[in-house]
Amino acid sequence: MKITCITQTVKDIACDALVVGVAYKKAGQQKKPVFSSVAQQVDSLLEGLLQEIYADGEFKGEVGELNTIHTFGKLAAKRVIVVGLGSVDKLHTRAIRRAVATAARHAQQTGAQTLALACTLENSEINKEEQVQAETEGALLGLYTFRKYQSSHLNGNGKHVQAVSLLVEDERDPAVQAAMHKGITMAEATNFARDLVNEPPNVLSPAELASRAVTVAKHFGLEYEVLEREQMQELGMGGLLAVSSGSAQPPKLAILRYRGAPAESKEHIALVGKGITFDTGGISLKPAERMHEMKGDMAGAAAVIGAMQVIGALRPAINVTALIPTTENMPDGSSYRPGDILRIMNGKTIEIVNTDAEGRLILADALSYAVIKEKATTIIDVATLTGGIVVALGSAMSGLFCNDDELSQKIIEAGQVEGEKFWRMPLDDDYLEQIRSEVADIKQTGGRYASSVTAAKILEHFVDSARWAHLDIAGTDFVDNKLPYQEKGATGFATRTLAAFVLREAEQ
Ligand code: BES
Ligand code: MN
Ligand code: ZN
Repeated sequence: MKITCITQTVKDIACDALVVGVAYKKAGQQKKPVFSSVAQQVDSLLEGLLQEIYADGEFKGEVGELNTIHTFGKLAAKRVIVVGLGSVDKLHTRAIRRAVATAARHAQQTGAQTLALACTLENSEINKEEQVQAETEGALLGLYTFRKYQSSHLNGNGKHVQAVSLLVEDERDPAVQAAMHKGITMAEATNFARDLVNEPPNVLSPAELASRAVTVAKHFGLEYEVLEREQMQELGMGGLLAVSSGSAQPPKLAILRYRGAPAESKEHIALVGKGITFDTGGISLKPAERMHEMKGDMAGAAAVIGAMQVIGALRPAINVTALIPTTENMPDGSSYRPGDILRIMNGKTIEIVNTDAEGRLILADALSYAVIKEKATTIIDVATLTGGIVVALGSAMSGLFCNDDELSQKIIEAGQVEGEKFWRMPLDDDYLEQIRSEVADIKQTGGRYASSVTAAKILEHFVDSARWAHLDIAGTDFVDNKLPYQEKGATGFATRTLAAFVLREAEQ
């Protein structure tokens, strides 16, 4: 698929579908359409049809609402797809991204192979670069499919979009070119993360996940290293080793290092992603019904590797290390057990209560490694960690736990720009009571109440004095039903937020 910027007379743009974004403005009870200059031109070429679908009440302009008009040769474009951008007063990159994704998906499913997009607005508070980036991301995210294991990997009538052109005022404007490039990079990284999550667990083993991380490192010239079981033993990684003990697959800890900071820089960011390639629960076996979804228990790792892809491509002036602890969690005669006491790399001991709470154990070792060996000053971990966060926040927002107000705010803002929502959750010390152990330094789980908080409190024991955030993306990593802007399956959630956070941090 090719995506480019073009500057061309609207009438002459030859394509299967021209997508035109239209917002509305509330005037009292009435909603008035807000057209970009392209929309106005399309409207006059079609002799007022765009105004008409509004006046008729057929089209309201809500975000992602679609209306298709056949042009009968009045334009070189075969079809015009009008897509709603919502209220102009609330216009946000998120609306543009979703609207474009919805329209592009629809166009692809109805046989279009070439698209032209005109979904930015001139008179808006969002600058044109951010709009172009969101438009680019929307197109590439919306067109994403995962069909590699279907013999006839057909989509609708079997066609995939081949080329997308973004209509811009001046195609040679370097700022616009850069915005499109950034959008492509962000969206490709998100789709790469989606691929990792969508891969079946018989293909995406811990070794395969580590190897795909290494492939990214090689492609972008990052330093890399993969720790094997023997090294984990030497380092005393009792958490990662215990979780992997029931699996026929050896555990791996992939490390990717990007070094872009000037010599005097003190900040060193570590990104840590939970990489459980399949979570059966282990001896504390999960029920069968939804167990297959646990192939996605490496979505945190996928987001981190995706973010490293963006960092490797855009090369910000900052140092970033990615840590991917990866293993399966399987029941076996050699599995770890409830009742076991494990020692994590930083020396702390944990009393095991439920082998299904495995994520915190592998993260504990990776966080310890980030502190002790990598001397990271800022650590962000990403994990499909708890069912509790799904109960609390559902699929609309991810939980954010953070020991630093400024870091928390920065992550929330990076998420807003990239259309990913985070809600800050507490890390109050009163929750420590629930994870007090009689026999070890801490107890692995704190019971049913506030289970996403007690999980975060466990992780906190392994970050020492680093500035730290924990993103619990269980619930947002995967969609159960297809949506107009996204097919059923992986979302790639947190990839763009992590990348945007790092890029913004480097600019300061
Ligand atoms: N990977 C799961 C959490 C999860 C649940 C992710 C649903 C996505 C959707 C995690 O390893 C887990 O099993 N957590 C348990 C811990 C409990 C046994 C203390 C949970 O939260 O239920
Ligand atoms: Mn589990
Ligand atoms: Zn898990």
